[in-house]
Amino acid sequence: QAFFRQIQRAAPPSPTKRHTKISVVGAGNVGMAIAQTILTQDVADELVLIDAKADKLRGEMLDLQHAAAFLPRTKIHASVDYELTFGSDLCIVTAGARQVPGESRLNLLQRNVALFKTIIPPLARYSPETILLIVSNPVDVLTYVAWKLSGFPSNRVIGSGTNLDSSRFRFLIADHLDVNAQDVQAYIVGEHGDSSVALWSSISVGGVPVLSFLEKQQIAYEKVTLEKIHKEVIDSAYEVISLKGYTSWAIGYSVANLARSILRDQRKVHPVSVVANGFYGIEGGDVFLSLPAQLGRGGVLGVTNVHLTDEEAHRLRDSAKTILEVQNQLGI
Ligand code: NAD
Ligand code: LAC
Repeated sequence: QAFFRQIQRAAPPSPTKRHTKISVVGAGNVGMAIAQTILTQDVADELVLIDAKADKLRGEMLDLQHAAAFLPRTKIHASVDYELTFGSDLCIVTAGARQVPGESRLNLLQRNVALFKTIIPPLARYSPETILLIVSNPVDVLTYVAWKLSGFPSNRVIGSGTNLDSSRFRFLIADHLDVNAQDVQAYIVGEHGDSSVALWSSISVGGVPVLSFLEKQQIAYEKVTLEKIHKEVIDSAYEVISLKGYTSWAIGYSVANLARSILRDQRKVHPVSVVANGFYGIEGGDVFLSLPAQLGRGGVLGVTNVHLTDEEAHRLRDSAKTILEVQNQLGI
């Protein structure tokens, strides 16, 4: 007996509706924050969780499945076996070691490169057309490693980069000016981490360029205050890690937002880690760092030609140098 009484023949499935599949590797703090935020945003028909710890993984899967009555419909699966990721449109990698209080992101490199050698090849094999979105730290160098290990074109390998730092920046500026963070346009570029670069010259609030407005109004603004805000952004993760042990909610929203822009072909501009050599005088080899990039179904569609002051461009090249120095020791 049929569950529903049909009043007419069911319409055949629409040929234009694409099935969308996301795989998240690493079901820790970050992977689960991303997974749960993605579920609320209705961007995937299928969500696959992969982790090395089978029991924890099944527990996380069941816990999310039990929220089905409150969420848009998404099939949730989990496995320690990469075969389940077959045909993914987007693979988000969050697996790996995280910082202990006071430890830098770059310090995680050797451990996480070793891990990536076991994670990226099977992802690329089971989903040769996928877009890789790397979150594990140090994210810029690991995005380069994922690009090398996958053999994918660079437009399909993206690091979550300074999308998170820029959100922290927008929050602090909004708090300072008592406005809504969504009305603040502001970018942090370069390394996700200690050598990141704040683009003060391009900050605007509700379409008003902030620095020239303050100068025209002859409102005394101190460079020190601006530098303090940037320093607060750099210190943010260290502070949260020393207080709660890890960061998760903001990166969850940040990555779910990137997933939406990519899979829904939003063509929005996000500061994310992309191949940066050739831009703003960056040279010395292939290097991934964050620049404002347009994202869509094809991955990275382009990098915006944002105006940088000489000082900002100089700092960006220094940030690239820091990443390249680390990368050159890898032998990949
Ligand atoms: P966590 O320890 O909570 O989770 C890591 C998970 O990876 C664990 O569940 C572990 O079992 C899993 N794992 C380990 N080896 C694996 C393997 N071979 N295959 C599959 N899964 C494996 O750590 P976390 O707090 O979720 O952080 C994860 C990573 O994300 C860290 O590198 C952290 O620094 C990084 N992170 C990046 C950003 C960013 O902005 N890019 C923000 C926050 C955290
Ligand atoms: C962050 C991580 C630790 O929250 O990279 O910035």
